[in-house]
Amino acid sequence: MKLVVIGAQWGDEGKGKMVDYLAEDADLVVRFSGGANAGHTIKVENRTFALHLVPAGIIYPEKKVALGNGMVIDPESLFKELGEIASQGISWEGRVFVSDRAHLVLPSYKEEDMSMESKRIRPIGTTGRGIGVTYANKAHRDGIRVGDLWDPVIWEGLKEEDRSWLAPFKDKLAGMIVNMAAFMMENRDKDILLEGAQGALLDLDHGTYPFVSSGMSTSCGAAQGASIGPRYIDKCLGVFKAYQTRVGNGPMPTEMLEGADLELGNTLRELGHEYGVTTGRPRRIGYLDLVALRYAGWVNSLDGFILSHLNLYDGFETIKICTAYEIDGEIVEEFPASIDRMERIKPVLKEFPGWEGKVGDARSWDQIPAGAKDVIRFIEEFTMVPVAGYSVGPLRDETFMKDPAWAK
Ligand code: IMO
Ligand code: MG
Repeated sequence: MKLVVIGAQWGDEGKGKMVDYLAEDADLVVRFSGGANAGHTIKVENRTFALHLVPAGIIYPEKKVALGNGMVIDPESLFKELGEIASQGISWEGRVFVSDRAHLVLPSYKEEDMSMESKRIRPIGTTGRGIGVTYANKAHRDGIRVGDLWDPVIWEGLKEEDRSWLAPFKDKLAGMIVNMAAFMMENRDKDILLEGAQGALLDLDHGTYPFVSSGMSTSCGAAQGASIGPRYIDKCLGVFKAYQTRVGNGPMPTEMLEGADLELGNTLRELGHEYGVTTGRPRRIGYLDLVALRYAGWVNSLDGFILSHLNLYDGFETIKICTAYEIDGEIVEEFPASIDRMERIKPVLKEFPGWEGKVGDARSWDQIPAGAKDVIRFIEEFTMVPVAGYSVGPLRDETFMKDPAWAK
C-alpha cells in the first residue's frame, strides 16, 4: 500500500511525529518535497530527534528511507544531520537512498535567497535555506541534480569553488544514489509511506502565494516527487492542529492579535512549544480555520485527517473555531487567492463549550471526552473529511488511530 501524509495547514502540524508513528508498519519511507526548510521533531523515550532532510522513518533500525526527486538537498546539511543521527545511536548506513533527480542546493543559492529576500517589498520570511533559488534554477533548467555530479560536462562546467565544496559530498553520496522510478518499481509490492513537508497552505500552487515555499507540498506532489504515478497512491492523510500556526510572513485570517486573543495565543504558544525547529522563531498563533481546512481537504483529496494538539484545550472553558470569513461586510466561505482580500478577512468564530475530562489522557476514540467529540464531529461535517487519527502528546504512545491507517 502507498500512504501519503501531508500537512494540512502552514506546516508544523506534527507531520514528523505522525510519519514516525505510521512508519512502524511501512517498509520504506520516501520524502517527496522541500528541503532543509522543514523541521520535524520526533521524541522517542528520552531522545529527541530534529530532522530537516532525512525522512522520519530513519529512527527505526531496519527501515529504508529515500529522499525523492521532488526534494532540494543541501548535502552539507544532509551529512550533518546523518552525523547527528549516528551520534544518537542510530546507524543509517546502507538504508538511506537519494534520488538521482533531486536537485542540489549550493552555498551561493543560500546567499542569493537572503539577498532576494532583503530586496522584497513584502518579505516572505524565508528560512534562508536556498529552497526558492534551487527550485527556481530547476524551473529555469539551470539546476544541478544529484546524479549530474557524475556528468563530466556538467561537473567541469561548475565553478571551481562549487566543485571543491561538492567533491567530499560526491564521494559520500556515491553509494546512496538510486534511479528513483526504478527503485520505486522494485519496491512496488511494499508498504510505502510518502512523507510531505511544509503544508497545503505553503504549497506553491495552492498556498497563500507569494507567501509560500517553492515545492509541491500537497498530496499531488507525492506522486510527482517520489517517481510514481498518481493512481498508485492508495490513501492520503492530512495532519492538522486544533489551532493554527504560521512562521514567516503572509496572511493568517484567524491570528490571535489583540487583547484576550493575544493572551490566548501566548498561552497556546507556551503550552505547545510553538517555536520553529529550523529557525527558532516564535510561531504566530490563530484559531482553527475550517474554511482553510476544508480547502486543504479538497486540494489534497484527503481520506482522513489526523488531529493533533486538541489536548492543549483540556480544561479550557470554551474553544473557538473559524467557520467563515467576513470580507468588506460580506460572508465568504471559500479560501481566496487574493492576498489583498485575505488581509481584509474578519474571521467568523463559533464558540464551543469546553469539556470534562482530558483529551490528553485518551488512547482511543472511546476515551475522548464527549464534549471534545462534539467539536470533532462538527469539524468532520464541515470539512467533509473524517478524523482518522489523533496525536494527544509528543510521544509515540500518545498517538492512536480511530480508523486503521494501513487499510484502504
Ligand atoms: P515543516 O515541514 C513551517 C515557511 C517559512 C516561510 C516560507 C518560505 O517543518 O512543516 P522557504 O524557506 O521555503 O523559502 O520559506 O515557508 N516554511 C515553513 N513553515 N513549517 C515548515 O516546514 C516550513 N517550510 C517553510 O517560514 O514563511
Ligand atoms: Mg516544522
